[in-house]
Amino acid sequence: MKAVLASHNKKKMSEMRAILAGIDVEILSQADVGVDLEPEETGTTFEENARIKAKAIMEATGLPAIADDSGLMVDALDGAPGVYSARYGHEGLDDAGRWQLLLKNMEGQTNRACRYVSVICCAFPDGTELMARGECHGQVAEIPRGDGGFGYDPVFWLPELGKSMAELSPEEKNRISHRGKALGVFKEEWEKKRNGTDQ
Ligand code: IMP
Repeated sequence: MKAVLASHNKKKMSEMRAILAGIDVEILSQADVGVDLEPEETGTTFEENARIKAKAIMEATGLPAIADDSGLMVDALDGAPGVYSARYGHEGLDDAGRWQLLLKNMEGQTNRACRYVSVICCAFPDGTELMARGECHGQVAEIPRGDGGFGYDPVFWLPELGKSMAELSPEEKNRISHRGKALGVFKEEWEKKRNGTDQ
């Protein structure tokens, strides 16, 4: 059995591959199957966008496609940047530009609670799908720390660890992250579906 990761984000894909290790499936990238498609994320929820990406790549390849739609939700900003995390601020900002904008928008805020959300959708050629969600709670840091991970990780503070997400090793991050949790649920659902199908 083969499945394609519906993503162009190399760091996200490397986390997904590491977390999915051990699952009974050959994981391919879009580059492996020669599909360059990058569907427009027109949904207003993580679930909608994960489904849009997974279905488009499944339809283009004829293989099950696994998509992650994820983002950072900040309580004091009414859940922003949320589904728009990858596009926060004006076009042309890189990851550092986006977290710098976030720190600016959080100036003077005492409520710094935030969470990462990841929704995994796997779309199958028979029209069925698997959906799983994971969350990781933290605080928006006052200053960036660390250079691991990607995206907002330098400013995602984990009070119980006394570290930012960017200060964790890849293994530590995958153990506690939104993506690790969502893919953990997804792996269980995948095995159940496979066992049901195989009977
Ligand atoms: P997507 O490709 O639309 O799902 O965009 C996800 C965006 O959310 C990324 O580009 C990051 O800005 C942010 N994000 C999601 N997961 C993480 C993470 O694990 N660390 C840091 N930022 C993340």
